[in-house]
Amino acid sequence: MTKTAIESGAYLHHIHLHSPDPGALARFYADTMDMPDIAEADGAFIVSGPRRQVVFSAGPARKLAAAAFACRDQVALAGLFGRAEDQGLSPQPAKSPLLDQGAFAVRDPDGNQVVFGLVRPGNEIRPVSGTASRAGIHGPIQHLTLASQDIAAIEGFYAGKLGFAVSDRVRNEKGEVTTCFMRSNHEHHTLACFLHRDRNGIDHHSYEAGDFMTIRDWADRFSEREIKLMWGPGRHGPGNNLFIFITDPDGNWIEVSAELETVYDRPVQEWPHVERTLNLWGDGLMRA
Ligand SMILES: [Fe+2]
Repeated sequence: MTKTAIESGAYLHHIHLHSPDPGALARFYADTMDMPDIAEADGAFIVSGPRRQVVFSAGPARKLAAAAFACRDQVALAGLFGRAEDQGLSPQPAKSPLLDQGAFAVRDPDGNQVVFGLVRPGNEIRPVSGTASRAGIHGPIQHLTLASQDIAAIEGFYAGKLGFAVSDRVRNEKGEVTTCFMRSNHEHHTLACFLHRDRNGIDHHSYEAGDFMTIRDWADRFSEREIKLMWGPGRHGPGNNLFIFITDPDGNWIEVSAELETVYDRPVQEWPHVERTLNLWGDGLMRA
């Protein structure tokens, strides 16, 4: 039996970024993003903190090596693998330091590698309830947002083939989709895509702080390091989440977010391509 990404309960477990200086970027995340443990394996730096992990290895700046989603269980993973095969995605075995054997990888139309697997014991990042999980600042990695010149192809791949569900779309006055928000579980989006006229790759990735006071703690942590917010605080229209953004030394945009909408069952909502959709409180950071 095949399963969609939604039926497999997939969630974003970690991302693997390339960098011209992956050691320096790893140290930046270790300090700034409160992920103090750095391990090296097969030339990659694995940076770990409370319920969040990011992997870095050598390559061009702002280039995704892989986005890794964890499935609910073995049945879910096998079902999603079957769907990827049925849809002609040629899933390939994937090796990950944070996922168990049996993980598989596919490539989206822009060449981004997406891995699905089961979490290797000791690397779990959910559930996030309860105070016991709050050693360090709360903020599991939560979503990845791509940049693409062809949103229809990205939506066709993730929603059409892998079975993510579309939560919201943003359209300009010509009817062109400029943003698509997709979910693989109850979170409003675990993967999104912004239209960029000039490049494909990553727009940003995000950590879920849970509440606004924890966003305050993150902003204070950034301030102690004299890192200015590049956008926010604000509240997005789609997803209704609170946000702040900073930039890492490679130019990757990092979001810290809270109060993201929980979606179980509702129609797709359409939004106009205006600043207010991006930020109900103030300036919107328009990508296209
Ligand atoms: Fe975001």
